[in-house]
Amino acid sequence: MTLAGPARARRGLEMTDLGILQNGGMLIRDGRIEAVGSSREIEREAGGQAEIIEAEGCVIVPGFVDAHTHLVFGGNRVDEFEQRARGATYQEIAAAGGGIRSTVRKTRAASEEELFNLAKERAGWFLRNGTTTIEAKSGYGLTLEDELKILRVIRRVGRETPLTTVGTFLGAHAIPPEFAEKRGVYLSLLIDEMLPRVREEHLAEFADVFCERGYFDLEESRSVLQAAARSGLGLRMHADQLTNNGGALLAAEIGTVTADHLEQTDAAGIAAMVTARVQPVLLPASVYALGLDKYPEARAMISAGLAVVLASDFNPGSSPTPSLPFVLSLAITQMKMTPAEAITATTINAAASLRRADQIGSLETGKLAHFTIFACADYREIAYWVGAPLVRSVFVHGREVFAAP
Ligand code: NIG
Ligand code: FE
Repeated sequence: MTLAGPARARRGLEMTDLGILQNGGMLIRDGRIEAVGSSREIEREAGGQAEIIEAEGCVIVPGFVDAHTHLVFGGNRVDEFEQRARGATYQEIAAAGGGIRSTVRKTRAASEEELFNLAKERAGWFLRNGTTTIEAKSGYGLTLEDELKILRVIRRVGRETPLTTVGTFLGAHAIPPEFAEKRGVYLSLLIDEMLPRVREEHLAEFADVFCERGYFDLEESRSVLQAAARSGLGLRMHADQLTNNGGALLAAEIGTVTADHLEQTDAAGIAAMVTARVQPVLLPASVYALGLDKYPEARAMISAGLAVVLASDFNPGSSPTPSLPFVLSLAITQMKMTPAEAITATTINAAASLRRADQIGSLETGKLAHFTIFACADYREIAYWVGAPLVRSVFVHGREVFAAP
């Protein structure tokens, strides 16, 4: 599957065109794709000099791009997983001192080295599922030093493992408990001290805010996003996840690159995003893992012309999965996206949302040779055999970084 086409997000019917090449081949040199064509042509072009990787009977896909993850955190929340099974809701658990705050405690207590070792192991989980690039947010530190610590770990994972990481500053993930009675002071700290340091040290390309009842309201979210824009960061936003409080409308008003979640977004929010060309990032695994049943309106968004992205939302609270094949399955079974639309949403559209559509997200001449070989003959099987280990091998810069036993 080449996903060949313009180096930008695909919308509407464009999302169904995967650029499938039967008996195709790629010539790779110095980590980049030099040519794509029929296998026979490619072998002729290589002139007997190249190492040949045989993938007969397999599907080759661009490395998945996961545009929304919370990679770096201490500990886990498996206790809340059981509490929800016993009937508690995400909001009830958070109100009782669990939720994001419990992960903040464990993340603050962990050293940079400990967090790196955890993140490095998780990077292996992403790669083994065919993901070669992730966006990763801070947000479990919520002090200047702890946020910088997380962002440095994100950068180091990108440098020291085959997984590419794109950092996002999410100091506005929750009001830390020590500022519960002085929200304004935390916001000033975030805007006047954290943002400038993040910029100075080039630790993030994007900023994000959790706009939600009990977290950051519209007014607070607007001021964080505007300050981030002034400091030159691209904007993403957690919007309309648990309640519809006008998050998608705010994303459109400000012109964020993405609005993420959108489970509760209505027609007005969708229309505003179309006008402002905001990309929706849908996270069905968080709906699933919270045991909820209201998935975002993917079909309405695609019909309206939005360039939909699908991501894992990997995090210890609401979405403990690194698997985009699993997310593809949810998108197809629960949101009625077609298999082709879902693949587009995890490759070129996700790459565009990270401003990397010229480098990754498709298999075309000049792009980075990041790709996965799946042990199935029909691309729809990647999502259909949900939970089956179909990844045969994963390549980054043309080198094999994972091979199934
Ligand atoms: O995207 N919504 C906010 N952040 C995460 C949840 C984080 C947590 O519960 O630790 C999310 O779902
Ligand atoms: Fe999230």
